[in-house]
Amino acid sequence: MAMLFASSVDDPAAWKAALAVHAPALEVRVWPDVGRAEDIDTALVWRPPPGMLAGLPGLRAIFSLGAGVDHVFADESLPDAPVVRLVDPALTRQMAEYAVLATLWRHRRMGAYRAFQARAEWRQLPASETAARRVGIMGLGEIGRACAEALSRLGFPVAGWRRSAGAVPGIACFHGADGLGPFLARSDILVCALPLTRETRNILDADLFARLPRGAYVVNAARGGCQDEEALLAAVDSGRLSGAWLDVCRTEPPPPSSPLWRHPRIVLTPHVAGQVLPETAAPGVAENLRRLRAGLPLRDVVDPARGY
Ligand code: GLV
Repeated sequence: MAMLFASSVDDPAAWKAALAVHAPALEVRVWPDVGRAEDIDTALVWRPPPGMLAGLPGLRAIFSLGAGVDHVFADESLPDAPVVRLVDPALTRQMAEYAVLATLWRHRRMGAYRAFQARAEWRQLPASETAARRVGIMGLGEIGRACAEALSRLGFPVAGWRRSAGAVPGIACFHGADGLGPFLARSDILVCALPLTRETRNILDADLFARLPRGAYVVNAARGGCQDEEALLAAVDSGRLSGAWLDVCRTEPPPPSSPLWRHPRIVLTPHVAGQVLPETAAPGVAENLRRLRAGLPLRDVVDPARGY
């Protein structure tokens, strides 16, 4: 039995080395060197080439090389095997750091101070009270919860919004279509930590921006597919939003002509909010492999109907 590794962005040698520590008996083959397809019973993938997984007749589990699984479900010929998202406490921590970084950037007016510095201008702006800066986190999964908790620890009043009801200690929770309006109305800084699904595609649109307080700030560390980029740019240009901080775009990288590269009120990072490190992520994959071999239920299996 062997695992097929397929990713154009992750380092197969580093993953092989990390898996050798935590699953020493595992044979790892690297796409496109599949060998005998029948030998492959698991796949560890990031954006697998469409149809590749369907060509593995013995496949019993598909492990995502990221917290998100939309890249797996993008393959319309996906075989009937459980899809497992990557849950890694170190990755979750990076995402929380990133939400804190973007929130503090806006809260401490770093965009303005960077512009002043570029003009050699020594100028102070009034400070804002942390307790008065309301942060809203869209998506309260593993990552959203960690972002909410980290921001709440800093003293920001944090609320979260999710699809269905559920409580997170210390965080005001809103849910569903009815909860979205009141949640947005109290979010001075909105952090998107949603998975990309049919329901969340383009959720960050003109209508949503209009329901935020005027001058709100939007942070998207989730997926570019969640944002209507034209509407976002229009909202920033009109002052409806004071700015945006994006780790993701509709097209990555955006074309050189995209205004996202040079907009003075948009911070853009190249999809690095949470980078998977094989040495911290491999133990979770190895644990699920052990479970698979022992006939135990796998952890972090995605519900294909919900897409997360
Ligand atoms: C990164 O985008 C991930 O899904 O982990």
